[in-house]
Amino acid sequence: MANWQGFYKLSWQERLQRTIENKNLTADQAALITQHYDMVGEQQVENYLYNFGVPTGLLLELPVDGRLVTVPMSTEEPSVIAAANNGARMMRAGAGVQTVIESRLVRGQIILDNVADVVALQTYVETHLTQLLQVANDAHPSMAKRGGGAKALTVEVLDAQTAIVNVLVDPKAAMGANVVNTMSEAIASVLRQAGYEVLMAILSNFATESLVKAKVAVPVTALATKQGMSGADVAAKIAAASRIETLSPYRAVTSNKGMLNGIEAAVLASGNDTRAVNAALHAYAAQGGQYHGLTRWTVQGEELLGETTLPLILGVVGGSIGIVPAVKLNHALMDNPTVNELTSTIAAVGLAQNLAAIRALVSTGIQAGHMALQAKSLALQVGAAPAEVPALTAALQQAGKFNETTARELLAKLR
Ligand code: MEV
Repeated sequence: MANWQGFYKLSWQERLQRTIENKNLTADQAALITQHYDMVGEQQVENYLYNFGVPTGLLLELPVDGRLVTVPMSTEEPSVIAAANNGARMMRAGAGVQTVIESRLVRGQIILDNVADVVALQTYVETHLTQLLQVANDAHPSMAKRGGGAKALTVEVLDAQTAIVNVLVDPKAAMGANVVNTMSEAIASVLRQAGYEVLMAILSNFATESLVKAKVAVPVTALATKQGMSGADVAAKIAAASRIETLSPYRAVTSNKGMLNGIEAAVLASGNDTRAVNAALHAYAAQGGQYHGLTRWTVQGEELLGETTLPLILGVVGGSIGIVPAVKLNHALMDNPTVNELTSTIAAVGLAQNLAAIRALVSTGIQAGHMALQAKSLALQVGAAPAEVPALTAALQQAGKFNETTARELLAKLR
């Protein structure tokens, strides 16, 4: 019987020892854990063992709002970063991505149950509006000093005895989870004192008050393929594919997953919360009752027009951003963006990623490029030493067959 008792109270050394014993780890496995011990990581999570690394590569010269941006992307999936670079290249043939951030507010929900009189609640909030906003701002005074903080309160009646008091907060350069939760709890305690039954107080990740709109016009000539498909043909098919996403949720989910390949990789590298972004984007894609694609591509004259609207609330301070050296490095690689610049960049990454994926799908299909890029992983999978990978990758590409059997055969021949 494995003994995990009191694991959380042990020092890291003791925890490592206990894990080695309980799981019969080999010396190599134990060494791997030790090599990836990280002092900051140990402070970040509970029952800490080691830092699990995610490969990070660069998306270069992404054209966003007149600038060419470098974007570090962290992902385990081969071909994502190549595709993003390909999308950026096509976008650079035109004026690049233009973005507009419509507002940047985060919603806190103070959820009330067993409300005796929802109309009286509305009156209470209206007559105590200034006081309730003050309570929220006093709970996080530095935010108000910087021009942010709680800006508005609304009452949303769900049924005769259930209602939500929403607080809308401007978190300035932060993502806002902490500040909004603190403010929501402060309002909740006043409402409790006033006799209301508060079920919970928490931010909503459905960031519909933080929408970024991004648009791009790509000259169709930039879409032509090496295999001889004209840019105009590719553009027409991309537009057709985009229409399918309004009709088939099965296709829309996959297209959005592709877009998230880029968005999540960049969000993760920036030290932001990938799950919050993911949840919001999918909810937004399902607004109106049918799940749809988050981008829209149409042809107008000689240009392919792409657009997207995303609920995106990110931060450039707070959370892991100030404490993880690699995150600081990633911000430096992006030239230390403001929060709006980061938001616009992430939306542009989504457009670039989606463009490259759909172009590949409607022309050569993704497997050709995908498998060629996955050849490196395949080589490692069949046991090639890192020094053997380039030769085996080249041999696989020459053979045009990307499966384990071929890889094993070719590796044996190389040896
Ligand atoms: C693969 O990770 C992503 C794609 O499936 C996206 C798409 O289908 O649009 C290629």
